[in-house]
Amino acid sequence: MNPSIQSFQIEYLVNRPEYIPILAHWHYMEWSYLNPGDSVERRITRLQSHGGPGQIPMTFIALQGETLLGSASLIPHDMDTRMDLSPWLASVYVAPEFRRCGIGSALVGRVVGEARILGIHPLYLFTTDKESFYAGLGWSVVERTIYRGQQVTIMAI
Ligand SMILES: CC(C)(COP(=O)(O)OP(=O)(O)OC[C@H]1O[C@@H](n2cnc3c(N)ncnc32)[C@H](O)[C@@H]1OP(=O)(O)O)[C@@H](O)C(=O)NCCC(=O)NCCS
Repeated sequence: MNPSIQSFQIEYLVNRPEYIPILAHWHYMEWSYLNPGDSVERRITRLQSHGGPGQIPMTFIALQGETLLGSASLIPHDMDTRMDLSPWLASVYVAPEFRRCGIGSALVGRVVGEARILGIHPLYLFTTDKESFYAGLGWSVVERTIYRGQQVTIMAI
């Protein structure tokens, strides 16, 4: 547990657009290997289209004061090979220095709560290596498959 994180708030990214460039950079650094043609600029444009309550796509960010801690999104599609499944939890990211403080699980919980309010059931995600993190939050394995050359697990809640 990072002793400097006692409390944090979760907000809609659409209300805090000043954080879009740094978030796009973090996401690019983490996931560009999975996305041919990816760029920070394309991610900025995409995040600028994310809406607020009741809108898909949408993104939540976690903040402590004015420090950005992480993000999680609710998006209509995340795997172009599985367009039959919708919507998806995506872009779950916590900055390395703030991990293992409960921020990731709070962000996932916020998206799951938003989906529940919208009557969404089930909600999907895919992960290359965080199956046990999501299993601990109540997600179940739907399928294990290869996506863009990577072994991935599709999960649902
Ligand atoms: C995965 C990630 C979002 C977790 O965020 P976090 O803020 O550290 O997670 P939390 O502190 O809320 O952890 C919640 C629980 O999951 C566990 N956990 C955290 N990271 C884990 C990991 N990498 N593998 C397995 N379990 C993990 C914690 O121990 C905790 O369990 P506990 O409640 O029994 O103590 C963060 O490590 C991250 O951003 N990683 C890089 C991006 C990424 O892989 N995102 C997921 C893409 S599918």
